[in-house]
Amino acid sequence: MSFFQWLGQVGITSHPGGWAATERLLARLDLKPNELAVDLGCGSGRTLTYAARKFGVKVVGVDIIPSLVSRTLVRLKDKGLIGYALAADITALPFHDETFHVAWAESVFVFLPKPDAFIEVARVLKPNGRFGMVELTWKGERYPEYCEQTRQFLGVRRYEVLTIQEWTAMLESSGFEVRAAEKMPSHSPPSPLPKWLSDWWDLMRLGIGLARQVPTRKWLEGAHRIANLFRYTVPAIFVTVKKS
Ligand SMILES: C[S@@+](CC[C@H](N)C(=O)[O-])C[C@H]1O[C@@H](n2cnc3c(N)ncnc32)[C@H](O)[C@@H]1O
Repeated sequence: MSFFQWLGQVGITSHPGGWAATERLLARLDLKPNELAVDLGCGSGRTLTYAARKFGVKVVGVDIIPSLVSRTLVRLKDKGLIGYALAADITALPFHDETFHVAWAESVFVFLPKPDAFIEVARVLKPNGRFGMVELTWKGERYPEYCEQTRQFLGVRRYEVLTIQEWTAMLESSGFEVRAAEKMPSHSPPSPLPKWLSDWWDLMRLGIGLARQVPTRKWLEGAHRIANLFRYTVPAIFVTVKKS
C-alpha cells in the first residue's frame, strides 16, 4: 500500500509546517471573496474548507485518491460551504486554460514531476493568477539519501526535497514570478496544539489508522528515517504570480 492509499484509508492528511504554515500561506495569497481557487492535492479538505469559510473564496479540491475527495466533499457539505472536489492527477488537470484566480498546494510537489507539474498549474491560472505552496527545503547541506529512504518507505514513485533556491528557480522557469520564499521557523507546530489535532474525530481516525499499521518493524524503521529527513529540512512558503 502506498502512502497516499494509506492516507485515503485513515481519512486525514497534513503537511510539514502544520496549521501555522497553512495560515501564513493563505494570508500571503491575499484571497478575496468569490475568487475561484483550487487546492491541489487537497487531501481530506481541511485547508480548502477553512479558506472557503474565512475568505469567501469558491473552492475546488483536486486529489488523486478518491476517498480523500469524498472526505473533502463531506466536509464541505457538513459546513454548508460552496465548493467542489474531484479525483484527478495534478500533472493533467481536467480544467480549461486560465480557469482559476488562485491555486495552492501543501506538501504535494515533492511527490510530482517537475517542472511539468508547475507548468500545468500555470496553464489553469488566469493571467496574474497567484500560486502558493508549502514545501520542504534543506536547512543546509543536502542529504539525497534521506529522500530515497523516504521514497522507499512511503512506497511512492518520487520524493524530492529541494533547496529554497532550487524551488524558486524551478517556479521561475515554469512561468511564475516568485514574490516570497520564506522558511518557517521549524517543523514543530506552534503551541497550543495545531487545529487539526483538536478535532476529536480526526484524532480517533488517526488512532485507528495507526493501530492497523503499528507496531510493525517497517513502520518503526520508517519513523526513524523520516525523523532523519525532518532533522535536516525545514518547511518553506512560496508565493508566486503567473507571469504575463
Ligand atoms: C502529504 S499529503 C498533503 C495533503 C493536503 N495538502 C494537506 O496538507 O493535508 C499529499 C497529497 O497529495 C495527493 N497527491 C499526490 N500526488 C498527486 C497527484 N499526482 N495528483 C493529485 N493529488 C496527488 C495525495 O493523495 C495526498 O492527499
